[in-house]
This record gives sequence, structure tokens and C-alpha cells, in this order.
Amino acid sequence: MRLDKFICKSTELTKTQAVELILEGRVKVNGDTVTLESTQVHENNDITLDGKELVARPFRYLLMNKPADTICSNIDEVYPSLFNYINEGNNTELHIAGRLDADTTGLVLITDDGRWSYNIITPAKKCEKVYRVGLRNPISEDAVDIFTFGVQLQGESQLTRPAKLEIVSEKEVLLTITEGKFHQVKRMFSAIGNKVISLHREKIGEVMLDVEVGEWRYLTDAEVTSFKQ
Ligand code: URA
Repeated sequence: MRLDKFICKSTELTKTQAVELILEGRVKVNGDTVTLESTQVHENNDITLDGKELVARPFRYLLMNKPADTICSNIDEVYPSLFNYINEGNNTELHIAGRLDADTTGLVLITDDGRWSYNIITPAKKCEKVYRVGLRNPISEDAVDIFTFGVQLQGESQLTRPAKLEIVSEKEVLLTITEGKFHQVKRMFSAIGNKVISLHREKIGEVMLDVEVGEWRYLTDAEVTSFKQ
């Protein structure tokens, strides 16, 4: 990671303060003074500030049950940020691995480990996300095959990846997808002439939602590791 980021992760300093200290020549990496804030460093490097060794805080991995009318952003906008529910400190370092719309509820994974969240978000890793979807109209018989084949979303050059549709009842389905295009689920049902009226994410990879609305917990080591393969 960048040297200025490392300093933020190992102190309570802001990025601006970290950059100032680096420019003042007060930071050493493996014994050498480094004055370029973008220098790439590794946590195993010996990094000191005014001669005092810095140790980065360990990465954090959380899951949360997102309430409706909250946004997956670090700052409040029209709706409040869901980070208001997490009284953990250093919240600005955290980000959401796969954001949900303001009106969507359910499972969000939150971390400060960008490599880890990449494994969840990138379609290349085929990480499955399961949504419980409420529909305005009865689901059509052929929807299962259409979603398996892939649908053409407006403005996209490629079909959606194969998706699994399980019919729960006439107007309720479970949809499993391995990508996360903008408003993907809503657009998939729109493409087959239906409309999503409720959307709730229940599962990501092997991680099931198991906390109440607005609650959060740390992931277990096994859950964290399950996204590293
Ligand atoms: N697809 C959507 O349309 N909205 C979400 O919030 C998540 C997936």
C-alpha cells in the first residue's frame, strides 16, 4: 500500500497530516528517509515516524444487515449512510464490497482490505450473490431458461452471465448472480417485462445473513478466508 495510507492505518493521523510528515523527512522505510507519499510499502517493512516504529492496524471484516432507506456510501446524502450503524472508529477507512441501492435491504460485507473486496466484486472470481426478489407480476415460465442463457440489459454490450432463478411463489423468487452491474437485478427483471418491488440480499459466497436489521458482526476467520481462494 502507499506510504501515506500506511501511516493513516497505523496512527490516528489524517492523510494530509501523514503527507506533511513524509515531506518533512520524518518517515523512514527500512532505515532510509522517504519523502514521496506514494511510495509503495509492505506491512513487513520497518517503517518509523520520528524513530518510533509504526504497526498497521489489522484489516477488519464485517457483515451487516442493511436497513431500507440507507445508502452504501461513507457520507450521508439524501438517505443516511449505513456507516452510522457502525460505532467502530476509523470508519472512513472502511468500504462496502458490493453496494446495494438505497431501497435494497440485507447482506453487505464491509472491510478496509481492498484486495479482499476485489475477490467479491470482480466477475472473474464468480462469487455468488443470492437475492430474494419480490415481483409486481407473476414470474413467467420461461424466465428460468432466459436467465440461465443471459439477458440483454439496456446499454450493455454483453449478455448477463448465467444466473440461477428459483421460484418460491408466483411473485417471489431467489436469484443468484455472479456479477454486479448497476441496478443489475432490477434491470434483469425489467428486461423480461416484470418489475422488482422488493429486493433483499441473503447470501454472498458462503456467508449467510444472520443478524437483525441494522445489526452487524465481525466475520469469522473461516468466512474471511473463504473469499481469498
Ligand atoms: N441489483 C439491483 O438492482 N439493486 C441492488 O441493490 C443490488 C442488485
